[in-house]
Amino acid sequence: MSDLASYEAKIQSAASAADLDALELEIFSRKHGALTLAMKDLTALPPAEKVKKGQELNRSKQTLTDALATRRNELSQKSLGALSSEDKLDVTLELPPKPRGHLHLIPEFIRQVEEVFGRMGFEVAEGPELESEKYNFNDLNIPDTHPARDSQDTFWISDIKEKLPPDKKFVMRTHTSNMQIRFASTHKPPFRIICPGRVYRKDSDATHSPMFHQFEGMMVGKDVSLANLKGVLVTAMRELIGRDVEFRFRTGFFPFVEPGLEMDMMWQGDESESREGKWLEMGGCGMVHPNVLKNCGIDPDEWQGFAFGFGVERPLMIKHQIPDLRSFYHGDLRFLRQF
Ligand code: DAH
Repeated sequence: MSDLASYEAKIQSAASAADLDALELEIFSRKHGALTLAMKDLTALPPAEKVKKGQELNRSKQTLTDALATRRNELSQKSLGALSSEDKLDVTLELPPKPRGHLHLIPEFIRQVEEVFGRMGFEVAEGPELESEKYNFNDLNIPDTHPARDSQDTFWISDIKEKLPPDKKFVMRTHTSNMQIRFASTHKPPFRIICPGRVYRKDSDATHSPMFHQFEGMMVGKDVSLANLKGVLVTAMRELIGRDVEFRFRTGFFPFVEPGLEMDMMWQGDESESREGKWLEMGGCGMVHPNVLKNCGIDPDEWQGFAFGFGVERPLMIKHQIPDLRSFYHGDLRFLRQF
């Protein structure tokens, strides 16, 4: 018993949490603990003494348990106090700047397109890149014999045929114009949409890639005119490319517009080039062909509209003087970090 009483003092003067653990074992260990052994000894005592001694042992158990908890608490407070006075943080220390990522040129430009046209009331519409012939060609008034359907340009999808409806032909969309049909055939005019996205053609050299980006626009209303088309495009392109850029419109042929136009941009490149040599084609546009409206269930006598389809990479190449289109897709950080 005296043995047990001495433990209280030992606990109170313990210098570390490890010392406390050792003491706890000495007292409470299941096999050799001082208290455990004392409890075992009870069995040999006569009943009256057994009760008395048992109560005494229970009191010691409580006292020692409490003493352990109190000392543990004291020691941990001490060590926290030491931490706060010894470990100092110098908040004035200057750290090297953390490198920050940024958007790739292409999604960045697409965001700007959505923003600029969004301010003019155009809503963003997106659609599939694997497209049926109907949306990519037929309903856009592109006849079976049109050269754009030629296998030279179009990726016809045949090897996953069993997963696609058997009565339809599929392509990787060759332009974002598919969205004209998808949107116009499911919405009532008036509407204005802008549709950025990836398109695919069998082409690959410094200025052509088998995958590139376009943005399509379409506005349908009661009296939408060529003047509206010109106003919208020139305003938007000035914002996207630069205030002082000069534009011109030429007639061009696209089966889904009538009249069809091409928009050129004068670029401020090499002084040695003639002015004529500096006109660069940006994209096609025009007044939506009545057949296209009809194919979408819209009455061309009541509604009219304009449409345009522009590339994303081309204006970026001019703006940043990027000679090879393929640099956009290599993911080379030395290229990407320049912008
Ligand atoms: N889809 C055409 C192409 O990829 C571009 C185009 C021309 C889109 C005229 C139009 C348009 O909406 O009106 O070459």
